[in-house]
Amino acid sequence: MNRRYRKTIIAGNWKMNKTPSEAKALIEEMKGMLSKTKWCEVVLCVPFTDIQTAVKAAKGSKIAIGAENMHFEKSGAFTGEVSADMLKELGVKYVIIGHSERRQYFNETDETCNKKVKVAIENGLRPILCVGESLTEREQDVTMEVIRKQVKIALQGVTVDEAKKVVIAYEPIWAIGTGKTATSEQAGEVCAKIRDCLREMYGARAARAITIQYGGSMNAKNAAELLAQPDVDGGLIGGASLKAPDFAAIVDAANQN
Ligand code: PGA
Repeated sequence: MNRRYRKTIIAGNWKMNKTPSEAKALIEEMKGMLSKTKWCEVVLCVPFTDIQTAVKAAKGSKIAIGAENMHFEKSGAFTGEVSADMLKELGVKYVIIGHSERRQYFNETDETCNKKVKVAIENGLRPILCVGESLTEREQDVTMEVIRKQVKIALQGVTVDEAKKVVIAYEPIWAIGTGKTATSEQAGEVCAKIRDCLREMYGARAARAITIQYGGSMNAKNAAELLAQPDVDGGLIGGASLKAPDFAAIVDAANQN
């Protein structure tokens, strides 16, 4: 973390978990535990069906609500999809774009991520853009080639001022939901190289202002060490965001001096 230049953001990604009543109960429980949020922003990205309940439950707390996906068109014949302004009207502040599960199971590409990032920003939503290599790509030593391509295409046509609103989540696919966390050195190294890429695209001032999260089996035990890396400015947390004490412990780790 480097709080001098950028916000630390701890975001939960609930994936396809929790009904509205379960969401309400979990947020109520979390609210009681999140006392120390001074140094970081706390976000919960929840299923579409939970958004309205979650926004209401989080009212008066430091928790902002995010969505896990959206469509890039404003409206029209896209059965089953949800647009940016639909999210905005419900009080959503963040939206995850290009999570590896969406890329893998729902054919999301760097090009659709690019359209979504632009539309999110136009509508006042902060995109959490996910990038990351597969295990094969890491073994083939092409991690940075893959990630640079993902970042550069997803941010094509995004201006410097717009880029400052983007959060990047580095999520090595082999670490997601596997319990196999990247070492803090691995996470720190890739996040630093993502910042180098942003520097080439937007200059030093903008690059140092952009929040870069790590995601992939982050938990109460390893959070402090990962967040101690200077270029790891937060976390995108799946499994551990479904349990209030675990998520609260990660937020505490982000609030340590
Ligand atoms: P995990 O998921 O923390 O359960 O590994 C992270 C993510 O997919 O964002």
